[in-house]
Amino acid sequence: MKILFLSAEAEPFVKIGGLADVAGALPNALQEIDPQTEVRLALPYHQVIKQQNLPLEPIAAYTIAHRDGVIPVQVYRLIQNDLTIYFISAEPITKAPTVYSEDPGFDGYKYTLFSLAALRLVEILRWNPDIIHANDWHASMSISYLVKERFPNSFFENTKALLTIHNLPYMGQGAQPSMIAFGIGEDVPSKTSLPDWAKGVPLPMAIAAADKLNTVSKTYAKEMLTPEFGCGLEQVLQSRATDLTGIINGIDMKLWNPRTDTEISQKFDRFTTEQKEDNKKFLLAELGLKYSPNTPLLAIISRLEYQKGIDQAIHALRELDQDFYFIGLGTGNHQIEALMTDYQNQNYEKARALIKYDGKLARQLYAAADFVLMPSLYEPCGITQMIAMRYGAVPIVSQTGGLGDTVIPYLHHKGTGFLAQRNNPQEFKAVIQKAIQTYHNKSEWLRIQRNGMSADFSWLNAAQKYQEYYQTLLLKE
Ligand code: GLC
Repeated sequence: MKILFLSAEAEPFVKIGGLADVAGALPNALQEIDPQTEVRLALPYHQVIKQQNLPLEPIAAYTIAHRDGVIPVQVYRLIQNDLTIYFISAEPITKAPTVYSEDPGFDGYKYTLFSLAALRLVEILRWNPDIIHANDWHASMSISYLVKERFPNSFFENTKALLTIHNLPYMGQGAQPSMIAFGIGEDVPSKTSLPDWAKGVPLPMAIAAADKLNTVSKTYAKEMLTPEFGCGLEQVLQSRATDLTGIINGIDMKLWNPRTDTEISQKFDRFTTEQKEDNKKFLLAELGLKYSPNTPLLAIISRLEYQKGIDQAIHALRELDQDFYFIGLGTGNHQIEALMTDYQNQNYEKARALIKYDGKLARQLYAAADFVLMPSLYEPCGITQMIAMRYGAVPIVSQTGGLGDTVIPYLHHKGTGFLAQRNNPQEFKAVIQKAIQTYHNKSEWLRIQRNGMSADFSWLNAAQKYQEYYQTLLLKE
């Protein structure tokens, strides 16, 4: 089976959010569990990747037709751990200073070019994929292109399209003029009809055109069908419900392992969780906070977006009367950054807001934290909670999407974390209170930590499910 996997981001080359973790791990896991499967990953050759001076091999140069003239494209290849990675380079992609910009029209242009260029590439190489596996709106135009070009005796005659939705609200609005200029108009074959506002929007178009769809947890696959979560596409998704499934993401259990993590001050495993306390002392000292025993460290490690409910977490912290430390790490929306910074400044003896993206610090924080807070308003999967459990940091999360599918509520010795009703700041606060009480019961606390540290979140489980799903795509209709 041959699969072309398209994503805007992938570890270790470029990461903004969880999509990078998935695209950085799943292709390898798919090849690992089945030597008959060949995955090739297509990524935009972003400026941040170019700056890394990777040992790349130029393999193709061609042009993509645009209404205003042709656009030259170059493709570079890297083979890493048996995985072929294609970096798609063109001026709009490499000149852009950031992966995503504030200009929807420009991003629409850039990612339409990326999507079309990736498909043209495999045509030029005569490497005929059985499946185009497109992720999120940035790669959705590849599906529109595929279904347009797929006719009897064409190169793509037998190629199927799978769309994975990691984040439904991000649909690529603003891309329509570029899509039209690249020749993708309203004549794209579709399996269902779209509301007027969604015609010409990349993600809905791909939802309507793909052979199969999935999202990154079972619960979110159901939530998406409701007006509360469906972002106006609930009826479209309902009409495609038989072609929609949920497959929970994994984490890279080797990359995220407190027993071998070289970035943390004191390595540990589930039998030596007391070592976490050394990591906590170390980090508090690094940040100029005075250590006092039996005081839990609450952490947020997140993109600072409204989706993540950070404002609700800060609100809860303000109202708590128990002793705790708080460390927040991440960047994003400036208002949320300011909110977290204000909280730090008003509580400087116990709180820090670290407004940056820092992989090493993230690891140190997972290793040091007693709790990780995730009051997300919606969460297709969520990766932080899985990493947290692996590092003995107990998640306190809202009951939504992948959070509810990965965190088992604590009750009498069993369970791995604490769950609160979503979008309910009062309940979130009450659940933190209860969690802190449990923290003070040392034997129970140890159990919860160990339960989480023993859980298997490896990618191989997910890869197995994708394999099975791919098979259903290849069945003759
Ligand atoms: C998006 C979702 C997140 C998910 C990630 C990877 O960032 O918001 O829930 O874990 O994609 O699938």
